[in-house]
Amino acid sequence: MPSVIVFGATGFLGAPLTRAIVKAHPDWKVTAYVRGTRTSDEVKKELGVKRIETGDFTEFEKIKALCKENDIAVNAGNSFTDAPISAIVAGLSERSEGPKGKLLHISGAGNFLDFGTTGEFNPASKVWDDDNEEDIKLVNDKMFNGQSDVVALQAGKNGAVDTYVVCTPVTYGGAAVGSKGMGVGYSLITGNAKPLGYVPYIGNGSAVLSTAHVLDVVPFMLKVLELAASGPAQGSVYSRWFNVETQRVAWKDMATELAKVMYAKGIFKSPEAKSVPLEEAGEGEVKYLVAGNMLMHTNRSARMGFKPTQPSILTQVHEDLKDAAL
Ligand SMILES: NC(=O)c1ccc[n+]([C@@H]2O[C@H](COP(=O)([O-])OP(=O)(O)OC[C@H]3O[C@@H](n4cnc5c(N)ncnc54)[C@H](OP(=O)(O)O)[C@@H]3O)[C@@H](O)[C@H]2O)c1
Repeated sequence: MPSVIVFGATGFLGAPLTRAIVKAHPDWKVTAYVRGTRTSDEVKKELGVKRIETGDFTEFEKIKALCKENDIAVNAGNSFTDAPISAIVAGLSERSEGPKGKLLHISGAGNFLDFGTTGEFNPASKVWDDDNEEDIKLVNDKMFNGQSDVVALQAGKNGAVDTYVVCTPVTYGGAAVGSKGMGVGYSLITGNAKPLGYVPYIGNGSAVLSTAHVLDVVPFMLKVLELAASGPAQGSVYSRWFNVETQRVAWKDMATELAKVMYAKGIFKSPEAKSVPLEEAGEGEVKYLVAGNMLMHTNRSARMGFKPTQPSILTQVHEDLKDAAL
């Protein structure tokens, strides 16, 4: 039976994924790597795992040693920098016993932003297709999740590790899984809006945001993990990248619903979203999330059985953020 270590196991995606692994495969040896902010017993109870390892993502040697002794590592912790992925890859690459180390890395569809500035849908924008290996070869370290994706893909390309990637867009639905946190996607969007005093969209707000419900995403991640566990990887690493999506939504619609939520929570004085120019839509790169389009196909995932069935973020956002500390 494989041994699996999950990084980010207490997170928005990592917690339901860890619980799903334990539920589907009670005989697998699952370890959760977590920060020491809560007792091991609490975390064990919450996740159902038998083994906890505590540490930070910056603890390279500790993570490397743990990955060396596990068959499979899941990076559901951080995709913005090369920690913990570099240490994970270093450990999996040095396994001396058993089959080659396997990696399930969670990436993000922020990679596929078209960096449009008008806030309008652009029918000429590239649609990134997980079934086209040439598209995945274009993933690079300048992209939102590129610093970690490149390490994961390179390890798969040079044969050191059997890499699998699931690329999820803004992921929601925490209320459906009793999530404690909001996750990276909601945090970016609400964190961008809050200092502005309004929820922005740009121009007519027809630019599209890709979104996925956690209950569509997590069972599929488990499926990819089961594929990894089933034997040596097949094909090139670029054929083991899977995009997932529940629904694309127009930014005006997203902003309209989020403004109602932030008004209801007493954060904003108006329940209306606001159309603004790019320079008034937020700081740094996040304003391009509002201004541009995020377009991808999920053909490869669909062939693997990915079939979204969950409700839209436009309805779910109210329930998801009702009790969240924004
Ligand atoms: N949610 C999304 O919309 C979305 C979309 C695309 C891609 N992703 C990617 O998916 C992954 C998981 O996202 P998420 O939304 O589940 O994130 P999250 O809720 O913020 O969870 C992050 C997890 O990593 C742990 N962690 C963070 N920094 C750490 C550190 N320095 N040392 C040890 N542990 C640390 C957190 O521990 P604590 O519980 O102690 O904080 C938590 O378990 C990330 O790589 C993210 O970029 C997420």
